[in-house]
Amino acid sequence: MQNAALAELGLDWRYLACELPPEELRVALDGAKAMRFIGVNLTVPHKLPAMDLMDELDESARTWGAVNTVRFEGLDQQGTWQPLARLSETPKQIRMHGFNTDADAITRALHEDLKVTLAGSKVLLLGAGGAGRTAALKLAAEHVAELYLVNRTQSKAEDLATEIRERYRGVNVLVGFPPGNIDLILNATSLGLKADDPLPFDERQFPLSRAGAVYDMIYRPAETHLLKAARRAGLPAANGLGMLLYQGASALEIWSGKPAPIEVMRQALEKNVYG
Ligand code: ATR
Repeated sequence: MQNAALAELGLDWRYLACELPPEELRVALDGAKAMRFIGVNLTVPHKLPAMDLMDELDESARTWGAVNTVRFEGLDQQGTWQPLARLSETPKQIRMHGFNTDADAITRALHEDLKVTLAGSKVLLLGAGGAGRTAALKLAAEHVAELYLVNRTQSKAEDLATEIRERYRGVNVLVGFPPGNIDLILNATSLGLKADDPLPFDERQFPLSRAGAVYDMIYRPAETHLLKAARRAGLPAANGLGMLLYQGASALEIWSGKPAPIEVMRQALEKNVYG
């Protein structure tokens, strides 16, 4: 999707995927800086360690405690840091500026794919790992009224609930299944990635019919058991492709300073992910 977007924008850049051992993150980022890379995306497990390696952290990275987008910046003649894409001459000094585009992508996808209004809503969030934590904090920041956290390892859900209570006092956050109807179920567990995975929750504990919509962060397979069940129950449902798209679109905008060609990126993504 990034290379399709670069072609559309007429930029002479390339987006490459590289496998990287965690202990080599610093060396790799320094190498990218030395080679005058425009920017870098980071994924699991590099997003948290990268926080300590940045010269500057955007508010988004500070708020969500993770970096998925790095922009290399150089000092211009006036002594101002500028994205490398904007500088015509190679600067002597370069710094790494860390951003997070994941959290906003969650709400954008929920809004655009499911038309969910989060403020004042009731949400059941499954999973309290890396993706679950970012989603929970973002939902709280969007002023959901009630947030129910369910995780296989309950202590992680409890720690997350404590963090949310400290940071977002207006949100009623509880560990466990909701007693009544809710607006949205959001799956942030990895259950569903494999064909024989069970549903990420027990329908005897919470019938799907009590939910207004279902979002599964998993995008491959395109339709998990959870999404199939949601479709059978007649619920609005969407997979995580939108999240992948929007975090990438925002990263491209951060690097290039240009609006991302969303539809070109979506088409490239669908073609490459689903064939
Ligand atoms: P990610 O960065 O994708 O969130 P992660 O941090 O490893 O990855 O989190 C995976 C999530 O899926 C966790 O909520 C995990 O539950 P635990 O915290 O108990 O590990 C959940 N998960 C993974 N495998 C699971 C399984 N077999 N049953 C239930 N939950 C599972």
